[in-house]
Amino acid sequence: MEIRRVGVLGAGLMGAGIAEVSARAGYETTVREVSDDLAARGRARIESSLEKAVERQKATAGERDAARGRLRTTTALGDLAESDIVIEAIVEDLDLKKKTYRELDALCKPAAIFCSNTSSLTITELSAATGRPDRFAGLHFFNPVPVMKLVEVVRTIATSPETLETVFAFAKSLGKEPIRAGDNSGFVVNRLLVPYLLDAVRALEEGVGTREDIDRGMELGCGHPMGPLRLLDFVGLDTTYAIAQIMFDEYREKRFAPPPLLKRMVLAGRYGRKSGRGFYDYGGAK
Ligand code: CAA
Ligand code: NAD
Repeated sequence: MEIRRVGVLGAGLMGAGIAEVSARAGYETTVREVSDDLAARGRARIESSLEKAVERQKATAGERDAARGRLRTTTALGDLAESDIVIEAIVEDLDLKKKTYRELDALCKPAAIFCSNTSSLTITELSAATGRPDRFAGLHFFNPVPVMKLVEVVRTIATSPETLETVFAFAKSLGKEPIRAGDNSGFVVNRLLVPYLLDAVRALEEGVGTREDIDRGMELGCGHPMGPLRLLDFVGLDTTYAIAQIMFDEYREKRFAPPPLLKRMVLAGRYGRKSGRGFYDYGGAK
């Protein structure tokens, strides 16, 4: 199936990045947010990343302008009706995602493929909210989307081989390196990464080290580009908390249980970089 028009749901951390790489790869891209203000913030995030790509010589000024021309932001779900593929990157909330998929299913063309960027929900559960489970797959990007090479492509027992092939080829056309992953909560990467991140919070809670010692330990000792607490701030503590709850609910294993400190930080509005403060202080919303 030929893909020309791409719809993206959500212009937060991930949706903005997904829309950017899609527009840069030559697709007519429409990204939908729930308010004009959030749509404008998503657009600003994309603009700033495109500028950075030019500064870092990852794109020419001409490529930046062409990508801008292919990108549209909207608050109307109906503007995704002509999409050949829709990638959902809204908040990690099962009920909200299912409700949105039901609405989308009613207005998109029958041949359109739906993909979810969920970190921890199963694709089967999301696809069951639609009448097109055969044209539904997981397409899990990594943050920051324009930089990280990996995409996990997830097939459910209902995903058709044609859909899988199209989604795999689409991921490659975005300049990504796809791997196949089973439809278990967390797929491959988060199944391994999330317990590690949660353990870092437990280590801090237990006084094993300061936040700087824990982060520097993993940066200098294991060559990670960011220590776990800095990475948690980068991913978003609200998102990580939602992920941990979903994975714990699925596996009932302690390693996936959200530590009390993480919960308290979310309750206190310390979501990480996005709210200006998490384990570290970023001096205002970023
Ligand atoms: N567009 C295109 N390329 C860009 C760019 C942009 N907007 N901004 C930066 N780049 C490129 C740079 O040119 C550079 O490329 P080269 O190495 O080829 O020169 C590269 O990206 C790194 O950029 P910087 O030097 O500015 O940044 P850095 O070295 O400080 O690295 C980072 C920043 C990439 C975020 C790095 O710290 C990192 O990899 N952190 C870990 C990120 C991570 O683990 N992400 C996964 C999170 S978990 C997840 O996503 C799954 C989930 O479900 C929760
Ligand atoms: P975010 O909070 O930055 O952005 C989510 C956006 O979705 C918000 O701007 C919100 O207004 C918007 N939204 C909510 N309902 C909507 C709807 N019905 N239509 C359109 N937009 C809607 O969250 P994020 O970090 O971008 O995460 C989005 C998804 O991507 C989640 O499923 C998350 O698990 C997954 N994910 C996150 C990361 C990460 O590092 N943050 C990495 C990979 C995958």
